[in-house]
Amino acid sequence: MKKIAVLTSGGDAPGMNAAIRAVVRQSIFNQVSVVGIRYGYQGLLEGDYLPLEVGSVGDIIHKGGTSLFTSRCPEFKTEQGQIHGMRRLQKNGIDGLVVIGGDGSFRGAQKLSRLGFPTVGIPATIDNDIVGTDFTIGFDTAVNTVIEAIDKVRDTATSLERIFVIEVMGRSKGDIALWAGLSAGAESILVPGVKPDMDAIVKRLIQGKQRHKKHSIIVVAEGVSSADQVAKAITEKSGLETRVTVLGHIQRGGSPSAADRLLGSRLGARAVDQLLAGKSGVMVGVKNNCLVDVPFEIAISENHELSISLYELAQSLAI
Ligand code: ADP
Ligand code: F6P
Repeated sequence: MKKIAVLTSGGDAPGMNAAIRAVVRQSIFNQVSVVGIRYGYQGLLEGDYLPLEVGSVGDIIHKGGTSLFTSRCPEFKTEQGQIHGMRRLQKNGIDGLVVIGGDGSFRGAQKLSRLGFPTVGIPATIDNDIVGTDFTIGFDTAVNTVIEAIDKVRDTATSLERIFVIEVMGRSKGDIALWAGLSAGAESILVPGVKPDMDAIVKRLIQGKQRHKKHSIIVVAEGVSSADQVAKAITEKSGLETRVTVLGHIQRGGSPSAADRLLGSRLGARAVDQLLAGKSGVMVGVKNNCLVDVPFEIAISENHELSISLYELAQSLAI
């Protein structure tokens, strides 16, 4: 393998730059040249390729977003697009590809590897919804961003003795809500897969008021409901006044945490090592702090499960 390409695809995530840097530096360390593909699969199809040197990835490890930019590319979902993409890579003398992204991006990567093009994936999405890895790049930073926001909301909630319903991202999964809700001391956390018990939530709020509790924070994963709907249901059931905060895309930005920089660096180097060892059709991940390889078909399965023990802990600590 003489030349490797790297791209970022789908939703950006803090720590993607650390992974790009590691792919580039680990390749050069192994005397392999490396090309950055800008704008994900769109750039792959259009030939938006950029030779990268050691210095090209200097000064990016601390930056959010992705220095290679990203995109959503419907054309790559077609077989014609995938074959065209593979030919384009081959014409540019590229022998292997590293795809940094989420499950959608891995579906594209899986197609390329099935066509016979050596392809390895690195999980990067704030949602932490990839099977076979304990963490995805960007999740830790997003959780920290949410905690910081909730801490701020709590200041005003306490001052006015208010109830806040805070909506967080996560697509159809609840890891951001659960980890951030628990870490921020939320009274209730609503996550996909656990039927919301509005009566219990309201009862807890009323009991809190009776105990002269000064604030209440309810965290809602976007995959369950909107914060507006939850707030409305609370007011209808109890007459209690609520306020709503939808955190939105601030959760995807910002300087990556130490954990995400470390994960990006470890997985970036591992992806190159695996390509050089002749592997393809796998995502590199981390399990119990050890690096692992996971076939794409497992990584993209819908089986990512929420930690029930963490959910129960959040419930018992919020009494
Ligand atoms: P993420 O990787 O963050 O989950 P998306 O789901 O938006 O993001 O997917 C990113 C890109 O991956 C898509 O725009 C498309 O180019 C490619 N992709 C998604 N699904 C498939 C698929 N089934 N086959 C081939 N490529 C796909
Ligand atoms: O997958 C990352 C994510 O931020 C999800 O949490 C969210 O539902 C989605 O992307 C938002 O997508 P967009 O940036 O296209 O609005």
